[in-house]
Parts: sequence; C-alpha cells; structure tokens
Amino acid sequence: MSTSGAARAACCCWPRSLPFRRVVGVEASATLCDIARANIEAVRRARGGHEHLEVVHADATTFDIPADAGLFYFYEPFSTEVCEAVLDNIEASVRQHPRAVVLCFTGRGQPDGTEGEADSPPVAAAAAQQRPQWQERCVVPSPDGVFYDALLFEHAPE
Ligand SMILES: C[S@@+](CC[C@H](N)C(=O)[O-])C[C@H]1O[C@@H](n2cnc3c(N)ncnc32)[C@H](O)[C@@H]1O
Repeated sequence: MSTSGAARAACCCWPRSLPFRRVVGVEASATLCDIARANIEAVRRARGGHEHLEVVHADATTFDIPADAGLFYFYEPFSTEVCEAVLDNIEASVRQHPRAVVLCFTGRGQPDGTEGEADSPPVAAAAAQQRPQWQERCVVPSPDGVFYDALLFEHAPE
C-alpha cells in the first residue's frame, strides 16, 4: 500500500490490523517526513508492531513505485492537476509490472484545507474519473458523514 502525500503519517498507522505486507508513505516535505517518522516511532514504542511502515521523502509524481504496490491511498493530498501526474506514474508502473491496482480517495476537502462540496468527488479523484483505464467500482460510505466517503477505482487492463 502506498499513501501519497502522507504528511504526518496518520493514515499510515491505521492499516495495522489489515493484511498489508508493507505500507509506504510518500511525502514531498522533508520536515513532515521527519515528523511522520517520529510519530511512527512513538506509536511503535506505545503499541509495538508497525515494522512494516516506511516514510519516503519523494515527489509522488516521480516516486519509484514498488513493483508490488497494489493499493494507493489518497486523503486530500493534491490538486486534480498533480493527481494527473501521479496517475501517469502509477500507470507506467502497471505497464512495467502488470498487476491488480486499486486507488482509494477519501475526504472531499481541498488540498489547501478548504472544505469541498459534500456531493462532489475529492479533487484528486477527479483525475481518475476522467480516465477510461480507471473504473469507479464503489463508494464506501463513511460512518462520519458523506465528506469522508471513500471512492474506489480499479485499473482496467488496456
Ligand atoms: C492535505 S495534506 C494530506 C493529509 C494527509 N494525507 C493526512 O492524512 O494527514 C497534503 C500533503 O501532500 C503533500 N504533497 C503535495 N504534493 C505532493 C507530491 N507531489 N508528492 C508527495 N507529497 C505531496 C504535502 O506536502 C502535504 O503534506
């Protein structure tokens, strides 16, 4: 699993109970990477485990995606334009290493923190919606409200 725009790593820690072999948080800010690693270390000390978490200081548009990365998680990280470049990177990885890939977008706010419309898709997801190779499979409703629904897209073979 790869979480792009990992910020302080909150979304890297929650999949602990899920069967991921590895979780890689990709974050462009070196300062936030340091904070994320410190947060993960604090969680490790408090609860143990989390050995499978890693934070990488990289631009998600050019990040060297692991050949086995299967789930890409986005919590309000980018504009639609940046997400276009991230999808180009993911699609190149899938062409080089064919595999099943799922995108998960959650949070309908804007990357700058302003609130989006509750009935509009997350801004990053708009990039996937415009591409035929990404098929929207389902919306997983959030118990906290429509704002935090998760939109899942699957890569369709070309
Ligand atoms: C709104 S925050 C996302 C919140 C985060 N997902 C969380 O759960 O707390 C957006 C993050 O994406 C990062 N970011 C923006 N563009 C990026 C890029 N091209 N590659 C990697 N990270 C990026 C920013 O540095 C910022 O930390």
